[in-house]
Amino acid sequence: MLLMSLDDIRLGMVVGFGLRNKDGQTLLGAGVALTSEYIERLRELGYYAVWIDDEDTRDIVVEDALSETTRQRATAAIQETFSTGSREAQKLRSVSVEQVRATLESRRFQQVFSDNGTIERLSSQVDLVVEEVLSHAVLTGLGSLKTHTSYTYHHCLDVAVTATMIGRLLGYDRETLKKLAVGCMLHDIGCIFMEGEALDTPGLGAAAEASRVREHAVLGYLFIRDGLRLGPLPAHIAYQHHERQDGTGYPRALTGTNRVVQGAEMHLPGRITPLAEVAAIADFHDFCASNRAERVCLAPDQVRERVTEATGQHLNRDIVAEFLTVLAPYPVGTQITVTQGRFKNHIGVVVRLNHDAMDRPVIRLLGNPAGDRIPPIDLDLRKEDLAIQGLVSADAALAVS
Ligand SMILES: [Fe+2]
Ligand SMILES: [Fe+2]
Repeated sequence: MLLMSLDDIRLGMVVGFGLRNKDGQTLLGAGVALTSEYIERLRELGYYAVWIDDEDTRDIVVEDALSETTRQRATAAIQETFSTGSREAQKLRSVSVEQVRATLESRRFQQVFSDNGTIERLSSQVDLVVEEVLSHAVLTGLGSLKTHTSYTYHHCLDVAVTATMIGRLLGYDRETLKKLAVGCMLHDIGCIFMEGEALDTPGLGAAAEASRVREHAVLGYLFIRDGLRLGPLPAHIAYQHHERQDGTGYPRALTGTNRVVQGAEMHLPGRITPLAEVAAIADFHDFCASNRAERVCLAPDQVRERVTEATGQHLNRDIVAEFLTVLAPYPVGTQITVTQGRFKNHIGVVVRLNHDAMDRPVIRLLGNPAGDRIPPIDLDLRKEDLAIQGLVSADAALAVS
């Protein structure tokens, strides 16, 4: 299996992983041979690469942090929580935060969620997600292999998975990881109190003018704490996920230390709680790695760059440093092009990561500069003096503001 740029795909190549639309329906099934119409359509939909099933790369194991079943079930549980909440929230869209607060505190409102089992179903999915993430010996792949348009529920789940991976690197225990995961799954749930499409991007700092957008953090906090009664930590993740290290975030302009803090220092007044710092990193990462209305997603090495650039002022520097140890600029299975050294302009694929040198993986050359197939050649970049470039997304030049 290899993730190949649409520019390099030849007609007749066979789809490896099927593509689905936002409703989970198949756009293109695994095993379908690509025609020029399909390729054109994929481009229109914002795809820049597609997984190809290919004999020369069949031995390459592409790992996802979650199994397809868990992914679907967890997405469904998140969706159910959002929809149940949304029905209740509809009446509250035009009222003030104070009125929302009063309603959320009412017993009748809380009853809706305890009666229909939404919370239990969500919690059991949280347990499964955390266990699956923990069962992986190596943390690679991540959401950076995404080639699909990301919608709210997928976004929530991907943020939860990435945050759990980071939490694991920081040595959080299972209970903390579960609070982190559920808080991340619901970090944007305050958006259900807003009219229409929420303009919610982690790139927006305190300058974000639309006040209802800024309120989604407060409303999410109240909803998780009082409506869903999931406890203070998940609620604070929603509350603080748009705060920034330098104090320019919202809604309270809290600050961070750019360090990994432990013990009592984790809960100081005026400071962002570390769990929310992890959530902010996962949220920003997913924002860069996903298709959004205004642009297609960035390629993995560009995602890594953007996350790195955002440290210090926006994201916690030391936590990002941990994250970068598992965030592959060239994930397994993705296409690469040799840009310097022998084999210049050959194309190939990442076969395996070297965990001591994430940017020097083992690659397999598959095509010469003329675009013809060659007998595969495996090279360990730790021992080779050649430079490579990863997949390039069409709109790579567009900045994440
Ligand atoms: Fe948000
Ligand atoms: Fe988000």
